[in-house]
Amino acid sequence: MQQPAVEFSDLDFSPGQIRREAERLYEHLRHAEFSLAECELIAPLTLEINRLKEEKRAVILAHSYQTPDIIYGIADYSGDSLGLSRHAAESEAEVIVFCGVRFMAETAKVLSPHKTVLHPAPDAGCSLADSITAGEVRRLKAEHPGVPVVCYINTSAEVKAESDACCTSANALEVIEAMEGDEVIFIPDQLMAQNLQPYTKKRLITWQGTCIVHENFMAETVDYFKRRFPDLKVLVHTECDAAVVAHADLAGSTGNMVEYVRSHHPGRFMLVTECGLADRLRVEFPESEFIGSCVLCPYMKRINLRNVLQCMKEPRPEQIVELPEEVIRRARRAIDRMLEIGRGRPLKVDNGKG
Ligand code: 13P
Ligand code: SF4
Repeated sequence: MQQPAVEFSDLDFSPGQIRREAERLYEHLRHAEFSLAECELIAPLTLEINRLKEEKRAVILAHSYQTPDIIYGIADYSGDSLGLSRHAAESEAEVIVFCGVRFMAETAKVLSPHKTVLHPAPDAGCSLADSITAGEVRRLKAEHPGVPVVCYINTSAEVKAESDACCTSANALEVIEAMEGDEVIFIPDQLMAQNLQPYTKKRLITWQGTCIVHENFMAETVDYFKRRFPDLKVLVHTECDAAVVAHADLAGSTGNMVEYVRSHHPGRFMLVTECGLADRLRVEFPESEFIGSCVLCPYMKRINLRNVLQCMKEPRPEQIVELPEEVIRRARRAIDRMLEIGRGRPLKVDNGKG
């Protein structure tokens, strides 16, 4: 991957400032296995990014899959797609720097069209968002006339513009239930559609998209860890397949998982999702144990402190998110509908008891 040209020698901080910043970082990052020496190495970057944030009246929003140096070093808010959308809509900053994948930065632009939205890694896509085009949504609508379209937030702004309402993994069921009629076109995640179907009487017509991270998890692995640790709480993202979700104590969004750990810690948890979430929770709940395997999202990991700093200093044109006005207007309708309907709650808690 090409590293942007930010020279450490450009960063002019005293040894005392660097030491204090390294100690501040270490306080959090030691729980994610950063050494003090590593914190000293990144301290000039976080100092400069935080200085630029004030100078440019910028806010940094980061998805929970981002690395801990971003979440604890520079982010003003980190959370799931629903929380990030709410923050983008409410932010009073002039500039939003989005540490996440492209569709998330586009959503921030739709919700804050008059702000400058910067996305440090414009090639950070998403296998779900890239699985469907606006033309394909129009074709689905023609095949199923009058059936409302609910699109998962992991879609491009053009796809959202073709949809009646948007949803996230935290509120998909609420949004589906709010649609008229007994059928809903739910795009593009076929595994999430399979997970939602038993909870609604509406027939879900779906698409063949999957998440390249969550489709990897296997029910056998979860079962193995549950048998090995009987007190284990298994938290599963609803992008996983139904056999994995069947083993879950909680199935929902990353935000739902954070809330579950917050209200059940200290404990032993298995997070069936991208690795970044376990890193984040190890820092926040050091007395809890997070076990099992995770999978890295190659798109989320394209963001790093260097490209954040480079794009705040001198953004390349493709790092400034721009969308046609008409797309913004129509996508906004779908996102606003979601924000009106869906407060967000897990699909399943404690094997259906919660
Ligand atoms: P959340 O909204 O649950 O954070 O999910 C976003 C995502 O991309 C999951 O893979
Ligand atoms: Fe997309 Fe999956 Fe990565 Fe989330 S984890 S951004 S759904 S590819």
